[in-house]
Amino acid sequence: MSDLNEAGWAERLRQRIEDRSANVCVMGLGYVGLPLAVLLGQAGFHVTGIDPDRERCAALLRGESYVGDVPADAIAALTASGHMDASADPEPLARADAVIICVPTPLSKSKDPDISYIVGAVENLARHRHPGMLVVLESTTYPGTTEEILMPRLANDGFAIGEDIFVAYSPERVDPGNRNYSIRNTPKVIGGATPACLSLAVALYGSIVEQTVPVSSPAAAEMVKILENTYRAVNIGLANEMAQICQRIGLDVWEVIAAASTKPFGFSPFYPGPGLGGHCIPIDPLYLTWKMRSLSVQTRFIELADVVNTDMPAYVVRRVQDALNDIERPLRGSRVLVLGVAYKPDVADLRESPALTIIELLQDRGAQVLYHDPFVHQLDLPGGERLAGIELAEEDLALADCVLVHTAHSSYDWGWVARNARLVFDTRGVIQPGEVANGALYYRL
Ligand SMILES: NC(=O)c1ccc[n+]([C@@H]2O[C@H](COP(=O)([O-])OP(=O)(O)OC[C@H]3O[C@@H](n4cnc5c(N)ncnc54)[C@H](O)[C@@H]3O)[C@@H](O)[C@H]2O)c1
Repeated sequence: MSDLNEAGWAERLRQRIEDRSANVCVMGLGYVGLPLAVLLGQAGFHVTGIDPDRERCAALLRGESYVGDVPADAIAALTASGHMDASADPEPLARADAVIICVPTPLSKSKDPDISYIVGAVENLARHRHPGMLVVLESTTYPGTTEEILMPRLANDGFAIGEDIFVAYSPERVDPGNRNYSIRNTPKVIGGATPACLSLAVALYGSIVEQTVPVSSPAAAEMVKILENTYRAVNIGLANEMAQICQRIGLDVWEVIAAASTKPFGFSPFYPGPGLGGHCIPIDPLYLTWKMRSLSVQTRFIELADVVNTDMPAYVVRRVQDALNDIERPLRGSRVLVLGVAYKPDVADLRESPALTIIELLQDRGAQVLYHDPFVHQLDLPGGERLAGIELAEEDLALADCVLVHTAHSSYDWGWVARNARLVFDTRGVIQPGEVANGALYYRL
């Protein structure tokens, strides 16, 4: 392809990474791409965010943040110093030394992987590729994607992977809202298509994270991410099934898990909840299921966990109905106040949140549903209805026939909730039964 030999392009790129003169493009400025772009900018690279969402690009250029973990002043400092800009047009890719792809990987309606965003991003990239470019995919996907989707589109017309164009996969493992672990101190797993690809990707990430973890191939790195999230989905499924078993035989699953957790080895606690949420845990394992189905291999743990976890919103609604039954109230016409609708504490993220299904199921059965969430002031239900959150006052708790604890945001005062509600259904085990007001009823998963 070029007048430089293999070592020449790789060396030139390594030099540009080391002296921070490399231009880096981040494709996809979402929960994953924006914090990564900021970190690269802070490390001294010139970073361009590429995103077809013009609003996101404009916000970044104005120095505003739309991702909870990214402070606006960090963005403003980088745009002011000329280290960061954004474009809805992919043209800056033509000047990029390294490109990191962080586009969505959702499921289609039939729960099959939708890799159209990856394909779209790579096709844009292929039009602007040039020798001496490193391309890293970070989007979560099934093992084989880098090799089957990226590499054939980048290695043609005389381009050779590992010689003049370099390809790697590195899963994003960040946990939005986690105060202890950020991109910087979460070890970064990296698999390169060739040793030269791996070495360049390790050099790039080594400039922004404390520890890199090289593995033997992109597919191994893809599988690492799927294993991590399958481990969580399966163990949460187990905890959800245990909750139902304990309820059936009159045991308190929270007490059982707390006592089991005292074992100093061989037991890691997972907790039941109203269902899986977020962009990762409910989705990623099914990418592997789809891939293995094409090879006639069943992923039984994944599928069983999916069945148990997907039923949790309906199970919660059944339990709320049973609880109201104890005070001789039908669900129809009852006032249910949902506390927290985000899929996990201290974030505004509603993606796949079980609260959406729970609210719709309650409404379908005739309940009057209100919600409060300190981070989510309005929400759109899958059926199209828009709900506005309420301000939370003592009388809202007292007026509700059932207060349903859905998300354990740290700003909630659970003792105050317990003292003012008449009936609580707690899906997170956060309320101390002893704090519930005299005569009030308390149920938990
Ligand atoms: N959110 C998380 O906590 C998390 C954690 C680990 C891994 N991941 C994975 O990272 C990937 C990105 O997730 P996210 O949460 O950042 O998604 P997101 O929806 O917040 O952001 C993705 C962005 O990509 C943009 N985009 C779509 N097509 C594009 C294209 N062709 N070129 C450039 N940009 C394009 C979208 O407009 C959007 O702004 C997914 O594969 C996800 O599974 C997410």
